[in-house]
Amino acid sequence: MTGAHTGTEYVRAIMARESDRQARESFRALVLHLAPSGGALLDFGAGAGLDARYFAERGFRVRAYDNDPRMCEFLAQQCRDLIESGCIVLEKASYSDFLARAQDDGGRRVDVVMANFAPLNLIADLPPLFERFDMLTVPGATVVASVLNPYYIGDAKYRWWWRNLPRLWHLGRYAVPAVEGEIVRRTPADLAAQCAPAFTLERVFRGLPPRNAREAAGIAWPPCRRGMWTRLSGSRFIFLVFRKAPAGSVERASPRGRRRRPLT
Ligand SMILES: C[S@@+](CC[C@H](N)C(=O)[O-])C[C@H]1O[C@@H](n2cnc3c(N)ncnc32)[C@H](O)[C@@H]1O
Repeated sequence: MTGAHTGTEYVRAIMARESDRQARESFRALVLHLAPSGGALLDFGAGAGLDARYFAERGFRVRAYDNDPRMCEFLAQQCRDLIESGCIVLEKASYSDFLARAQDDGGRRVDVVMANFAPLNLIADLPPLFERFDMLTVPGATVVASVLNPYYIGDAKYRWWWRNLPRLWHLGRYAVPAVEGEIVRRTPADLAAQCAPAFTLERVFRGLPPRNAREAAGIAWPPCRRGMWTRLSGSRFIFLVFRKAPAGSVERASPRGRRRRPLT
């Protein structure tokens, strides 16, 4: 299958459902809210380049990375004008090369890493990825990720969902086989542990347009009240905002693990 076929089919599928279109719109609004005007973004798992194009057309500098060469080929076709003008830089590499690249790879450090439509669910081991995000970002940067919602009530019709509920409860994650490999569903608490020490989970949002100011503000992490999952259960995706410490913070080893403290 050529990149054009793969990309065209992907775009058709991802644009078919109204709820997916709404999820994309909400995700973009969140990134626009967090990114400084004209800032630099990394689109991790950029796929067909829908978001890379959207943000580049709005004045952002976008580094787009995907480990699937067919998707990269399609993105290169769809975004040729913006790549030629330097607004989008397409990074082609295997995932292991992406992780292993030297810290100073010559690219501008980014203000926001975005990962829309669940690339993080396709990655079994997240800490090395967050270490890489740490190298690629400025102090105070954010990672905004849309992930499959492990509490999504619409999945309760599937046996695998019920079968894995005890694992979700006890371990905070489980993996199910899929065409793309394994899909790992994780609780926000598990993701909060995986992103440390460089990042801290700050907020969790329903992956749909907010219906009121409370939803627009998201849930501050860690949540102060029980029942967070009931507030999230109506959407297939949840959005998480991870924050890197601002300049002037350092990490110091402590007997209970590494903690971030301000410089004194
Ligand atoms: C569902 S698509 C989302 C694409 C795009 N972000 C969007 O919003 O339409 C998930 C993408 O993650 C990419 N992906 C999966 N594993 C990856 C990895 N280890 N590194 C980079 N990209 C990966 C896939 O190739 C695919 O293009």
